[in-house]
Amino acid sequence: VPAGGEEVLMANNKVLFRIQRFDPEKDEKPHDQDFEIEVAPGATILKTLHRIRAEQDPTLALRYSCGSAICGSCAMKVNGHAILACKTQVSECVRDGMVRIAPVGNLKILRDLVVDLEPFWESLGKVKPYLMPAGAAPDKERPQTPDQFGSIDPSTTCILCGACYSDCNVLEVDSTFLGPASLAKAHRFIFDSRDANDQPRLREISERTGVWDCTHCGECSTRCPTETKPLERIEEIRVQAMADEHHGNAGARHALGFRESVGKNGLLNENWLAVRSVGFFNLPGLISIMPVGLRMMMRGKMPPLIPHKIDKVDEVKKIFARFEELRK
Ligand code: FES
Repeated sequence: VPAGGEEVLMANNKVLFRIQRFDPEKDEKPHDQDFEIEVAPGATILKTLHRIRAEQDPTLALRYSCGSAICGSCAMKVNGHAILACKTQVSECVRDGMVRIAPVGNLKILRDLVVDLEPFWESLGKVKPYLMPAGAAPDKERPQTPDQFGSIDPSTTCILCGACYSDCNVLEVDSTFLGPASLAKAHRFIFDSRDANDQPRLREISERTGVWDCTHCGECSTRCPTETKPLERIEEIRVQAMADEHHGNAGARHALGFRESVGKNGLLNENWLAVRSVGFFNLPGLISIMPVGLRMMMRGKMPPLIPHKIDKVDEVKKIFARFEELRK
């Protein structure tokens, strides 16, 4: 739910719904259409859209099914952020008497509020979202203790609504990123005590487009309507991947390099970190970052070649030594 929602409706409980419309057969690009509607206290966005369809314009296209925050099909943007329309009350979303509705982001619009979900499903398929246990199928079920289930409990609550995918800032600039929902789904199998494929899963997901491409903006967890909270799951995968020494990738090298640099000088040596992340013997990788280095040099943005040390570097070293003890 968008934060700080005003519980203020217009006179007579009338609200202006400004809905983004797009008909591929008529429109070159999306445009807004306004609908004024009386809203009963407690009415959800989905219920109100149904009424707009029934009373004002039956051509308005949207997806929904369960109406109970279970199926995940009614995700859309309200006032610029993804929500579940069936779980959100209109009164939480009114801004100056108006609610803005648009389709979810990062996916192609097919019609009005309906988007092409194919890239979302394709990304999900890449993390092999099914149990891969060892050995032959047992006669009965594969049991788990409550503790074992506890480690995957949050990630099992994902309803694949795509709200996190919609508002992910990385996907906006890089459509090859697996995205928060797929990474949360990968978590569900990596940490499942019955799955025997955790190490290959961790290795694959540590490569480019996987967990290390997340930039920690936190939008996915903020928008998630369940307890999945993808950013937290991504962080847990990273910790496990490092613990299991999946270090042969740029993300892990970057994290290790960061620790080495700050642990040694108390400051980040950014020149060294760039090379450490790419890999000292990775010639194509090193050549690929040279243009960035040259541009930084020409614009006077190059960090000093000889790294400084902070005055109390011994204090920093003590902190890192303590971390190391705890880690062991
Ligand atoms: Fe099923 Fe909203 S209609 S989650």
